[in-house]
Amino acid sequence: MSFSCIRLSKICFLLSVIVCAVLLLLLPKFQTSWRFRSYPQPSPLIVFNDSSKRDVQLQQVESSSVDNLDEEANNIMPLVKAGLLEEWSSYSKDTERSNLKADVNTNARPNDHVHNVWTDHVEPPEISGKERLELKDLFIAVKTTRKYHKTRLNLLFQTWISKAKGPTFIFTDWEDQELRLRAGDHVINTNCSAVHTRQALCCKMSVEYDKFLESGQKWFCHVDDDNYVNLQNLLRLLSAFSHSQDVYVGRPSLDHPIEAADHVRNDGSTTTKFWFATGGAGFCISRGLALKMSPWASLGSFISTAERIRLPDDCTIGYIIEGLLEVKLRHSPLFHSHLENLQQLRGETVLKQVTLSYGGPENKHNVVSLAEVFSVQQDPTRFKSVHCLLYPDTAWCPTLMVN
Ligand SMILES: *[C@@H]1O[C@H](CO)[C@@H](O)[C@H](O)[C@H]1NC(C)=O
Repeated sequence: MSFSCIRLSKICFLLSVIVCAVLLLLLPKFQTSWRFRSYPQPSPLIVFNDSSKRDVQLQQVESSSVDNLDEEANNIMPLVKAGLLEEWSSYSKDTERSNLKADVNTNARPNDHVHNVWTDHVEPPEISGKERLELKDLFIAVKTTRKYHKTRLNLLFQTWISKAKGPTFIFTDWEDQELRLRAGDHVINTNCSAVHTRQALCCKMSVEYDKFLESGQKWFCHVDDDNYVNLQNLLRLLSAFSHSQDVYVGRPSLDHPIEAADHVRNDGSTTTKFWFATGGAGFCISRGLALKMSPWASLGSFISTAERIRLPDDCTIGYIIEGLLEVKLRHSPLFHSHLENLQQLRGETVLKQVTLSYGGPENKHNVVSLAEVFSVQQDPTRFKSVHCLLYPDTAWCPTLMVN
């Protein structure tokens, strides 16, 4: 009797130990399943990929309401890394300095200079491979604003635009009768706001993009109203490629890729690094690539894409091309903006570039240096001198004797 009682209590003890052990093992499992059930699920992210084109279209419809857009933007975390704006403003665009060889002919007599320039730079571009390009294959968008119709635009009409009336379109924000008479349907009133904000600039870029797609031309080139475009050099540059290739060419704005938080992709990465071409120096995009950008760029979706990353227009172009389509920017030192030290461009080198710029009233010494056709007083931007060296037959150019 006592034997069996002891045995029974031993068995009871062993059983209770086993039950306790099992309970201890199972406890964490219960806890995690409880946790999973009670945690709030994150709201689904909007994923931009081919399978969600319908979402994109829906957003296009929504984006017509500015209120919706703002509301949506407020729900997105600030995406720009702290410090980006500082980097932006302090960056002096001299990374390509080594490519700008000092010109030994600066002191040469202007006449010799003009002769060299003519033979070197005004000949038709070599056919280096893919296709023979003509001006009519280009769509050159010049971004301007009401305040610069008389000043900046007139200088462009007098100079390079006079040689490229067909492919050039002026994108502005004001209906100007005088401008309309001058350029007809090559002036596009974007109806965008005239303020210099990210939204207004993106609005213009969005219209530029749509008009390019509509035009059917092979190449889209964007420039600002303070750029001189060397048309022959532009054709020469682009004829090295095919317009059906994916080509995005321009001058990087920073000496390193920009980094923006990317809540659009859902692959676990938190930021996207990408290069972009600075809009102030001009850039070009092939039709083949422009067509691929359409889900993020056409019919107002460009504006929602820009709101998502909260970056300016030129940066958004880079984000779509490098960040989303994974096509690389082709870095070119031949494009120039007013933010560079333009005085480093001297003599003949000036005429080998694709775009030029000038510093404007607050920085009026920041202009390219070249042999005088007009004095700095007569031609503060140097664009008239550049133009006369390239096209000496122009009626208003001084008669230069070519030996
Ligand atoms: C701007 O508004 C005018 C007048 O309503 C219109 O004719 C024009 O097409 C608009 N421009 C664009 C780019 O939508």
